[in-house]
Formats: sequence, C-alpha cells, structure tokens
Amino acid sequence: MRPKAPSPLFIYLIILSILLFFYYSSLLSKPSSSNSTPCNLFNGRWVLDDTHHQPLYNDSCPFHRNSWNCIRNQRPHMDRINSWKWVPRQCDLPRIDPFRFLSLMRNRNVGFVGDSLNENFIVSFLCVLRVADFGAKKWKRKGAWRGAYFPKYNVTVAYHRAVLLARYNQNSALSDHDGSKETYRVDVDIPAADWSNISDFYDVLVFNTGHWWSYDKFPKETPLVFYRAGKPINPPLGMFDGLKVVIENMVSYIQKEIPSKTLKFWRLQSPRHFYGGEWNQNGSCLFDKPLEEHQLDSWFDPSNNGVNREARQINHLILEALRGTDIQVLDVTQLSEFRADAHPAIWLGKKDAVAIWGQDCMHWCLPGVPDTWADILSELICNSFETG
Ligand SMILES: *[C@@H]1O[C@H](CO)[C@@H](O)[C@H](O)[C@H]1NC(C)=O
Ligand SMILES: *[C@@H]1O[C@H](CO)[C@@H](O)[C@H](O)[C@H]1NC(C)=O
Ligand SMILES: *[C@@H]1O[C@H](CO)[C@@H](O)[C@H](O)[C@H]1NC(C)=O
Ligand SMILES: *[C@@H]1O[C@H](CO)[C@@H](O)[C@H](O)[C@H]1NC(C)=O
Repeated sequence: MRPKAPSPLFIYLIILSILLFFYYSSLLSKPSSSNSTPCNLFNGRWVLDDTHHQPLYNDSCPFHRNSWNCIRNQRPHMDRINSWKWVPRQCDLPRIDPFRFLSLMRNRNVGFVGDSLNENFIVSFLCVLRVADFGAKKWKRKGAWRGAYFPKYNVTVAYHRAVLLARYNQNSALSDHDGSKETYRVDVDIPAADWSNISDFYDVLVFNTGHWWSYDKFPKETPLVFYRAGKPINPPLGMFDGLKVVIENMVSYIQKEIPSKTLKFWRLQSPRHFYGGEWNQNGSCLFDKPLEEHQLDSWFDPSNNGVNREARQINHLILEALRGTDIQVLDVTQLSEFRADAHPAIWLGKKDAVAIWGQDCMHWCLPGVPDTWADILSELICNSFETG
C-alpha cells in the first residue's frame, strides 16, 4: 500500500522552517567570510594534488629569464614540482584568475621594486597574466628593468631593479691611505634612481630588499660605507645595522613620497636551500620533495647557525621597520621554506654555469613557487580594490 501523500500545508510548513533556519544561521555565523577578518594565507601546508590544474604557462612564455626556465633547461619532474598545492590552514587559496585580475586593474599599474627575487616573482606574474592578453608587449620605461604592457586592459606591470633600494655607487675616491681600497657608498636616505621617478605611476607597489646584504656581494675588503644627508655615518655601521637603517629610511621615504591611495606591499625574504655548504662550497639542493614541517627550524632558525639562517633574521628587521605603517606584509617566507625541491639547482641552461656559480638554490624554477606568491598577491590586491 502506498503511504498517504503529505498535505500541501505540511510541505509549505517544512519549506518555511528550512528557510527560517538558513536565515537565522546566516545571521549567527557571520564574520567567517567578512572582510574584517581575512584568512591568513601565509600559514599552511603543501598538499600533493595530482588533479591540481596545470600551470598557466610553459617554457614558451616570452617573459622568461633563461636560467629560471626549468622546463626548457630540462629539469626532470617539473610536473611533480607543480603538483604541490599550497593550502592555508583556515581557507582555500584560489588560483589567480588573470582575466578577473586584469579587468579589475583596468587603467592601473603594478610595480615591483627590489632584487632578483622580485624579478623572479614578476616573471611568474607576467607569464600568468599573459594568458588573459596574448598581445602583451615588453615594457621598459621610467627606469624599469623589465615589464609588460597589457593592451586589452591598459595595464602595465613592471620591475625596477634596486637591489639595496637605497642609492649606492662604487666609491674609489674614499680610499684607505694606501690608496688601493675600494668601497661602496650607500646613501641611506636616497632611493636608487631606478625607482625615484615612479611615485605617481603605480597603483600597487611591491618592495623588497635583503638578498644582497651579504659578504658574498660586498666582501669585507670592499665594504659598504653608509652616508646620511651626504655625510658618512659615524661611527661606521656594519652590514646588518646598515640594512636596518636603510630599511627604516626607505620605509619613511615611501610613506612620505608615495601617495596614500597606492596599495603598498613589502615582500619578506625568500629562503635559500643550500644543503651541505654555501653556494661556493658545493652547496646543493637536489631534493625531490618539499621539506617536512618539523625540519624547517633546523634549516632556518638563526640559533642553529645554518647556511640559510639569514632569511628569518632579516625578516625580523623588516617587520620592526614596517610596524605602524600602511605597508602590507607579503609573507612568502614560510611557504617557501618548505620548497627545497623547487630551485633551478643544476638545470641552469648553460654548460659551465654550475662550475662557475655553483648550484642555484636561491632563485626558483618557473613555473613554480612564485606562481603561488602571485596567487596570494592577486588575492590581496583584489580584496583591497573590491572592498575599498
Ligand atoms: C605552451 O603554451 C602555449 C600558450 O602560451 C601553447 O600554445 C603551447 O601549445 C604550449 N606548449 C606545450 C608544449 O604545451
Ligand atoms: C590608460 O591608463 C592610464 C593610467 O595608467 C590612463 O592615464 C590612461 O588614460 C589610460 N588610457 C586609456 C586609453 O584609457
Ligand atoms: C627621472 O625623471 C627625470 C626628470 O623628469 C629625468 O631626467 C630622468 O631621466 C628620469 N630617470 C629615469 C631613470 O627615468
Ligand atoms: C667541490 O667539489 C669539487 C668536485 O667534487 C671539489 O674538487 C672541490 O674541492 C669541492 N669544493 C669544496 C669547497 O668543497
């Protein structure tokens, strides 16, 4: 026997109570998706996800830099390197949608200022964005080192190379009395010319410095000498104190000279993964999977005095200097610390490169980890412009 059909009134009451339930639960469970408490995208883990979509670009992107083009340089298992997906603890990080991003940015411009790790970042960003406008053209004006103009959207994205951010030059006039010693003069309160003309041009700026502040780049025999207001700072500062003073001065220059409507980010350090020695001591990064979370402190905590300890040390200085400013922190450090497997290593595209320079365990293969940086940056920019 068939059960008796429920009366229309009964169905109506059920539907009404379901609607009321959803209405009240939506009132109760608010701020989860509200803009006042955005999810922390910097904290999470990498999950191997073979269904993870292919990278948005390949080795034929015209914005590649040869030594990071790991597909062309035949690094094995590039598909595996790009099968790891970054999953923040409390939410999902969507992949950048280049069409949506460029539409939102129409008639606006994005600038990167800093060292080659910001160049590594922008190469990824340009290759991703090009998917939405294959007419993208190389662009190098206003002191830019590389960049692209996206004609469909009237958007420019460019990188200004300024490795110390502050102006520096070789200074042979200032020598020891034996007359032979060369130094580098750093004007802590003057931005490098490469980015001193850009304050009105960009709507978004991403700064960094840090990877050149080492005795590899500026050996003790040819040290950095710091100047303020045109005079040598006395007593002279060591490299690390100099970095602190430069960051403080560049932050206050940015606060003063860059319009407040410009969205400003400071990218924290990209960690290196030299294992078994420095870059010039056969340090190596031939890993085939990311590090485990419990390994990170032994690699990177400064108290362990490892080869790659400087990233966290420098971050500490940067965070101090940014406190109380409107510059947002783009903290790519932790997510990148895991990825010992994703550097160009020995696949540099040139026969003698490894013999001369050692492995590259500092920059990143592209496509690769900086694509995730681009996902995060785009998410933060979209949140700001859509709500602001
Ligand atoms: C690389 O990407 C381009 C589009 O940018 C596409 O036309 C080409 O087929 C791709 N090559 C391979 C080998 O997938
Ligand atoms: C393109 O964008 C710039 C701002 O970056 C704006 O000054 C210019 O008018 C725009 N051009 C067109 C054709 O909309
Ligand atoms: C910056 O602007 C000045 C004055 O307009 C110009 O002379 C100089 O060449 C520009 N510098 C760069 C790096 O574009
Ligand atoms: C690096 O490896 C080469 C070749 O194995 C060796 O000759 C050289 O001594 C090593 N250098 C260091 C600093 O360990």
